Amino acid sequence: MSDYVVEAKGVGKSFLQGGTRINVLNGVNLSLNRGERVAILGRSGTGKSTLLHLLAGLDNAEIGDIKIGGVDITNESSSLRASIRNTQMGFVYQFHHLLAEFTALENVAMPLRLRGMSSASSNQLAFEMLKKVDLIGRSSHRPSELSGGERQRVAIARALIGDPLVVLADEPTGNLDGYNAEVVLELICELSEEKKIGFLVVTHDESIASRMHRTLVLANGILK
Ligand SMILES: Nc1ncnc2c1ncn2[C@@H]1O[C@H](COP(=O)(O)OP(=O)(O)OP(=O)(O)O)[C@@H](O)[C@H]1O
Ligand SMILES: [Mg+2]
Repeated sequence: MSDYVVEAKGVGKSFLQGGTRINVLNGVNLSLNRGERVAILGRSGTGKSTLLHLLAGLDNAEIGDIKIGGVDITNESSSLRASIRNTQMGFVYQFHHLLAEFTALENVAMPLRLRGMSSASSNQLAFEMLKKVDLIGRSSHRPSELSGGERQRVAIARALIGDPLVVLADEPTGNLDGYNAEVVLELICELSEEKKIGFLVVTHDESIASRMHRTLVLANGILK
């Protein structure tokens, strides 16, 4: 069994666009170690979000293999994939995907509630996590009552709360000002080192990429 938290081999994906099949990913290989921080750069439309969706098991690769924590998810049932997502992975989406009906605290606590933790214990941990992203004063606000950057920080707190093996983050600091981007970057660096969480971070920002251990570029369907 490999020690990689994420391992992709020869991953391919195409989409039909206006009657033409476009190869978006064309043999992507990637290995992420425990606690490793890797930036993925690439121009708009090159397939960065598509790749994260495949790694999350939210969509199927047409060819190639994807392993999460040594388990090949390629041919697994959607329920096993969902369970791997819930227990081993955290997500920060390009658009935050918070649940509108729930408060910031409840959104952050959600991954723990889904694992069966009591609301008292999960709220306590969620409160600690909101403290780390500087949002204690917003814990009872709903997403519609938060600014874009605050929502993004809630989404980051939610991704990190369950001590995942790996976090897939799509432009996690895209909506944040310099100060808050720094808060989030510090948290990513701290958690990758202390808790050995692996991070795959899609970004357009070279200064964020410079804080990762490695930078890969997605171009012409290939990651290198
Ligand atoms: N469900 C889909 N159906 C058809 N085409 C799609 C679908 N999802 C993505 N695409 C196409 O695949 C290509 C890659 O899209 P993707 O969202 O992965 O790009 P990206 O690198 O994340 O771009 P950005 O930096 O702008 O977020 C684009 O040309 C897009 O139009
Ligand atoms: Mg994208």
